[in-house]
Amino acid sequence: MRTGTLTFASLFSGCGGFDLGFVAKGFRPCGAYDHDNDAVENFAANVGGPIRRVDLNNGVPDEHSLMGLDTLIAGPPCQGFSTAGKRLLHDERNHLVPLTARLALRINPKVLVLENVSGVLAGDHARYWRELDGTMRPAGWRTHTIRCQATELGMAQLRSRVLFFAWRTGRDMEFVLPKLPPSNLRTVLARVSSQSNHDPQQLRTGSIEWRIARRIKAGQKLCNVRGGSKSVAAWEIPEVFGHVSENERTVLELLRRLRRQDRQRDRGDADPVSLVRLRAALGGRFHRLVNSLLTKGYLKRAGDGVDLVGTFNGKFRRLSWDKPSCAVDTRFGSPRYFLHPSKNRGFTVREAARIQGFDDNYVFQCNKQAQYRLIGNAVPPPLAAVAAEFVKGLVGRT
Ligand SMILES: C[S@@+](CC[C@H](N)C(=O)[O-])C[C@H]1O[C@@H](n2cnc3c(N)ncnc32)[C@H](O)[C@@H]1O
Repeated sequence: MRTGTLTFASLFSGCGGFDLGFVAKGFRPCGAYDHDNDAVENFAANVGGPIRRVDLNNGVPDEHSLMGLDTLIAGPPCQGFSTAGKRLLHDERNHLVPLTARLALRINPKVLVLENVSGVLAGDHARYWRELDGTMRPAGWRTHTIRCQATELGMAQLRSRVLFFAWRTGRDMEFVLPKLPPSNLRTVLARVSSQSNHDPQQLRTGSIEWRIARRIKAGQKLCNVRGGSKSVAAWEIPEVFGHVSENERTVLELLRRLRRQDRQRDRGDADPVSLVRLRAALGGRFHRLVNSLLTKGYLKRAGDGVDLVGTFNGKFRRLSWDKPSCAVDTRFGSPRYFLHPSKNRGFTVREAARIQGFDDNYVFQCNKQAQYRLIGNAVPPPLAAVAAEFVKGLVGRT
């Protein structure tokens, strides 16, 4: 291996967001591994350095070629830990977090850095993180976990993540994150129209999605389960979801309040409301109003009670020009989930990539859905660059 330049390899490399932060800080890529074809092709075309398409459950095929490596970085899948998804404790991908520790011990770099969503530290799911730490420490490595928020690193995106560092260099290190003012969408999307991967698809005028989108202002979302100025309920868009009377509207709002107020679970969604409870609140009008709302499709039967139809907490979420974005995820191209601040459409691939911190010279080349997936799954390169700076401290080359 060439001396002088710090070297790194990556596991679960995706399209290379994590890698780009290290390249930006002067590290040389020596190997990358992912089992996804689109990830491998986009990585090869844009990041450079060798990449292999492999299932890491079978180990790193040419691990001997990585001998003497300075840093191993890894971005194992987060779907099983993310609160945006089902968060299954036994999701088959969760074990890839502790697997990373076993692969790292075989490759024996000076430093290991692993990134994941902050949900990896919460509740029973933290067992995978404990296993990661509990594999490295007995082998003589020091470890440290830090939480970071992308907005505090100057990004235009609320993205809370954890970074795990393990090192065998014997050095002490103070992990102090830089503190920069957040950016916003206006800044990060400036002059985007002339760039590649920017192909805005406006919603068709008159379509159901368009009729919903035009009723949702910046900072609002379509949401039946929470009140307040940030939510637009289905019954406020009668041209799409059907007209309700004032009394029916009162019932829907009462139900919205009761299902949260009387909830039985301490986390997640709220509960349906029993008919007894509703009858007590509504008196004689109860039967007529509830039946009418069941017929109109605003209510559904649930056990011995009723519930709102559409208990999702936020679709058609319209972002604001003057604020950071919420976390970019794989659905960022779909207006049903995220709306551009002032156009009735989702975000283009280039817009999603910009918010995620990719330079415009990264050209995505696979089908659109895969492009959004690669971007949504990536570690933002600016966050990766912060990790790369810490690694320099750990190997003594600041
Ligand atoms: C969170 S993404 C990684 C993002 C990447 N670090 C970046 O910054 O762009 C997780 C990656 O793990 C890959 N992956 C999942 N299971 C794998 C396996 N068994 N072997 C190899 N790669 C796998 C997926 O294809 C996906 O690209």
